[in-house]
Amino acid sequence: MKRDPKTASRYRNLITKNNQKSPISESFRTLRTNIQFTSVDTDLKSIMVTSATPQEGKSTVSANLAVVMAQSGKKTLFVDADLRKPTVHYTFSLQNREGLTNLLVANSEMNQLVQKSDVENLFVLTSGPIPPNPAELLGSKIMGRFVKECMTQYDIVIFDTPPVIPVADAQILASQVDGVLLVVNSGKTKQDLAYKAKNLLDKVNANILGTVLNNRKVSDTNYYYYYGR
Ligand SMILES: Nc1ncnc2c1ncn2[C@@H]1O[C@H](COP(=O)(O)OP(=O)(O)O)[C@@H](O)[C@H]1O
Ligand SMILES: [Mg+2]
Repeated sequence: MKRDPKTASRYRNLITKNNQKSPISESFRTLRTNIQFTSVDTDLKSIMVTSATPQEGKSTVSANLAVVMAQSGKKTLFVDADLRKPTVHYTFSLQNREGLTNLLVANSEMNQLVQKSDVENLFVLTSGPIPPNPAELLGSKIMGRFVKECMTQYDIVIFDTPPVIPVADAQILASQVDGVLLVVNSGKTKQDLAYKAKNLLDKVNANILGTVLNNRKVSDTNYYYYYGR
């Protein structure tokens, strides 16, 4: 069957859900283990995933990380905090009439907006309608309260975000979460831009957990790789 190209661009194969035995799924489990080692003495409950520039794999990495966290038995919430180019509802085939922005604008009840995904233990809060002022919303007091509240209800909360360099959103959120993962696309990210992103995150005292190297070519297969700071 031929796929409609419009749908195809939104279709996302969640490898950790669809093929748990693949080496890529294995590397996401290694990423999970490394994060658990990093947080051995600290209570690391909220993690955001970002990158220097668009299209480096933030949404792919954050979604697969959320899946492997849930697969390990942790009650996991995956939040689409990319209020500019949200994709999480496509990844999990969920509705996005309501989501995070409703919570922030109308102070709606979190539990009424969170949706169950088809992965056990994994719950999703989609972006909701795209707002005109994403940075302002992410920096609001309600957002701060929401981040704290979801940490009391879930074992782990993962945030997908916009890239660091073009807009302030990720920097704003970085100071509210326990840890930040920086995705670097090995074929694409220029080194100076990766450093610039790191410096912007350091400026807000973000706790950078490490870097996820996406798209590393290993024997001609796309590979994910994680290393510490
Ligand atoms: N390692 C990879 N191998 C192949 N395709 C990838 C890989 N990482 C990401 N992609 C694809 O590249 C596009 C951009 O990735 P995405 O995760 O949406 O990036 P971002 O959220 O940073 O903009 C998507 O179509 C995604 O499916
Ligand atoms: Mg994205």
